Amino acid sequence: MKNVLITGGAGFIGSNLALELEKKGHDVVVLDDYSSASIQNLRGFRGDIFIGDESRLEECGSAFDVIFHQAAITDTTFRDDREMLRKNIDGFRKVLQFAMRKNAVLVYASSAGTYGNGKAPMRESQEPQPLNAYAYSKYFMDNLAKKHAKDLKVVGVRYFNVFGPGEKHKGKSASMVYQLYRQMAAGRNPRIFKYGEQVRDHVYVKDVVAATIRAADAKESGVFNVGTGEATTFNQIIDHLNKAMKASFRPEYFDNPYTDVYQVNTRADISRIGKALGWKPRFSTRTGIADYVAWLKAQGE
Ligand SMILES: NC(=O)c1ccc[n+]([C@@H]2O[C@H](COP(=O)([O-])OP(=O)(O)OC[C@H]3O[C@@H](n4cnc5c(N)ncnc54)[C@H](O)[C@@H]3O)[C@@H](O)[C@H]2O)c1
Repeated sequence: MKNVLITGGAGFIGSNLALELEKKGHDVVVLDDYSSASIQNLRGFRGDIFIGDESRLEECGSAFDVIFHQAAITDTTFRDDREMLRKNIDGFRKVLQFAMRKNAVLVYASSAGTYGNGKAPMRESQEPQPLNAYAYSKYFMDNLAKKHAKDLKVVGVRYFNVFGPGEKHKGKSASMVYQLYRQMAAGRNPRIFKYGEQVRDHVYVKDVVAATIRAADAKESGVFNVGTGEATTFNQIIDHLNKAMKASFRPEYFDNPYTDVYQVNTRADISRIGKALGWKPRFSTRTGIADYVAWLKAQGE
């Protein structure tokens, strides 16, 4: 059995990870300041939880085999750039130092935001092109991790657009899949930016959790894309939702207010994680959406 710490463990991905690790028999401690989490996300969790930020790390325990760092300001439209950078980078620095002191493996959440509008399919080796403060914070975290790659095992999981159970608290930062589902479930036509042809790699949280757990067993430090490898337009998301909901809503298009900082074409090249960790997604975007819609309906959403 492994002793595991998850920062941001009450958030969307962190809570799915906490529950799955417990199911696998690990001893899990969560640290979360509840700045964007939901109290409901840890229903059924049996481990210990500390409410606060990285200044409470030492109180969380003295022996951890693996630390999963999920905590971050995750709202990409957060207005205060300085605060975004400070919190995300300094928070990571503290976790990195803690992991070194404890001799623990550190797996941290990077982001496809670091690629900006770089060439797709996106490879870990290509030049980063962050477009906003959030993406910059992840880019600087990657640099910091690289700098310490020889001092400890530090593995970045570069998530693309994650969707699935437990994201409701994220509000306007929740996935497109969730936003569009909510509109359609309320009987409205889904609203998307003109003309719905923006391409993203939408990956299901169950696969993201499996990849994140696998990352702890990486032979050496590094960063790995976590996506489906599929290119899916917003129009296709609506098609998948219509099928899963047995509905026939049509998109309503409106102008995108974020044109200069908006990623229009993301898709992961997942060959590195496949080769190094033997991970590949179990769900396509379409089957992930079907699974998620069944869950949302069961919740009465
Ligand atoms: N969801 C996605 O599509 C996606 C894509 C790329 C990367 N990521 C990264 O994955 C990680 C998890 O994201 P998420 O989607 O679950 O978002 P989330 O907002 O649900 O989770 C973040 C959690 O961290 C907590 N938190 C924030 N700052 C903290 C701090 N200083 N100390 C302790 N807790 C803190 C929040 O309360 C929240 O529970 C983040 O690092 C995010 O940047 C997510």
